[in-house]
This record gives sequence, structure tokens and C-alpha cells, in this order.
Amino acid sequence: MKIAVLGTGMVGNALGTKLVELGHEVTMGSRRANNEKALQWAKPLGARARSATFADATTFGEIVFNCTGGAHSMEALETVGPEPLRGKILIDVSNPLQQADDGSMIMAFCNTDSLGERIQKAFPSTRVVKGLNTVNCEVMVNPSLVPGDHNLFICGNDAPAKKEVIDHLSAWFGWKPENIIDLGDITAARGTEMMMPLWMRLFQGVIGHPHFNYHIIRGR
Ligand SMILES: NC(=O)c1ccc[n+]([C@@H]2O[C@H](COP(=O)([O-])OP(=O)(O)OC[C@H]3O[C@@H](n4cnc5c(N)ncnc54)[C@H](OP(=O)(O)O)[C@@H]3O)[C@@H](O)[C@H]2O)c1
Repeated sequence: MKIAVLGTGMVGNALGTKLVELGHEVTMGSRRANNEKALQWAKPLGARARSATFADATTFGEIVFNCTGGAHSMEALETVGPEPLRGKILIDVSNPLQQADDGSMIMAFCNTDSLGERIQKAFPSTRVVKGLNTVNCEVMVNPSLVPGDHNLFICGNDAPAKKEVIDHLSAWFGWKPENIIDLGDITAARGTEMMMPLWMRLFQGVIGHPHFNYHIIRGR
């Protein structure tokens, strides 16, 4: 499959590398076609890995991952415009975090809004599925780094798109479909994005490494 991975950070690297290893063709998007980090990512992976602008990568992809810095994702996607995204599934992995004056990471917007919603609203012909944003990028592509059963959350307005994403996450990365919880429409992204302050406190203050995840246990 032809896949666009928008973002040259650790998430774009982890997803892009795994997808190329699986045999997909991946173009990593950036503000500049010759972004050094994208070129370095592509070099050892061979001909199936390429770098391009956000717009050209999206045009190439049959499916698109948004892995840009969440406080800047709208800027990044505005450089793409609606046409390359029309009808495509966009898996929004990003969280709208920004650095506060005291150096801590805070939500750039939340509560009554979310990045998933902003993207869906700005690109109504795109099938936005929020997902993978509540786990570290190494866990995204290798859930067995966390032992036992644990959950992913997805949401979006397009039910067939969510079904397709569940199939991909299962086939590509090994997520058990029964462990992927569909929270409903895209407004549920408010909740999954707001899990970030808790995730960061667990990471920095309690567990000390990023290989952990949430597991929802249902009572009878
Ligand atoms: N780290 C994790 O394990 C993890 C887990 C779950 C979710 N997330 C989320 O995944 C996203 C990616 O995280 P990351 O750490 O891999 O990368 P990042 O450093 O948060 O973002 C890097 C990307 O953002 C783009 N960007 C930055 N400022 C921009 C601007 N003003 N306009 C347009 N694009 C801009 C950069 O473009 P250039 O390439 O042009 O520099 C780059 O491609 C974030 O939203 C993060 O919250 C991260």
C-alpha cells in the first residue's frame, strides 16, 4: 500500500520504519522536501522510503498518518489543502501539546474542542480517525512491549473508516481487534487527547519509561 506519514519526529520514524519493513511504500512528509531528518530516515530503508513535502506525501498516500506536532498540525495540513486528502482515511496520532512558560507540557486547547475535531471540521471530505495517540510510538508498532491485554481508543464519524483502521492496526502492528475500543464520533477525541497529562505524569513521575498502557476492565 502507498502510505503518507506526515511528521519527521519519533512517531513518524517509528510508524514509517515499521510500515516499510512490512513491504509498504512510505513517503514521509515535512515542511521541506529535503528535510534532513526525513532523508536520514529514508536512507537505510531503500527505495520504498521517500521524503517529500506534506502536500506531496499526502498526494502519494492512499492512507495518511498525521504525526505532526499537535499544536502545529493545522498549519501543516493547511499546506496540503483539501484535494490531496479528499476521500482518504487520515489517522490522527497527534496530541495538541505545547510548552507552558514554566516548561511543563500543557494542552494547547481541550475540553470543548480537540485536534481530531479541528481536522475533521477543516477537511470535511476526509475520513478522520483519531487513534494511537494514547500510547508511546514504540508501543504503537509493537503492542507486545506491554505484556497482556491493553487497549487502544479510536473515534471518528465514518464507521467503515474505523473498521478499516482497526483491520490495519491489527494486521500491521499486531493490535488485537477486541482490544481496540471504538468511542464513537470524533468528539471523543477530546477525551483521548486529554489523557495526555495523565500519561505524562505516569511516564515521568511513576513508571519512568514509556512502555505502559491503559487497560479497561469491565464489571458485570
Ligand atoms: N512521542 C510519542 O511516542 C507520541 C505518542 C503518541 C502521540 N504523539 C504525538 O505525535 C505527534 C508527533 O510527535 P513527535 O514527537 O514524533 O514529533 P514532533 O516533534 O511533535 O513533531 C514533528 C513534526 O511537526 C512538524 N511541525 C513542527 N512545527 C510545525 C509548524 N509550525 N508548522 C508545520 N509543521 C510543524 C515538523 O515539521 P518539519 O518536519 O518540517 O520540521 C515535524 O514534521 C505529536 O503531536 C505528539 O503529541 C507522540
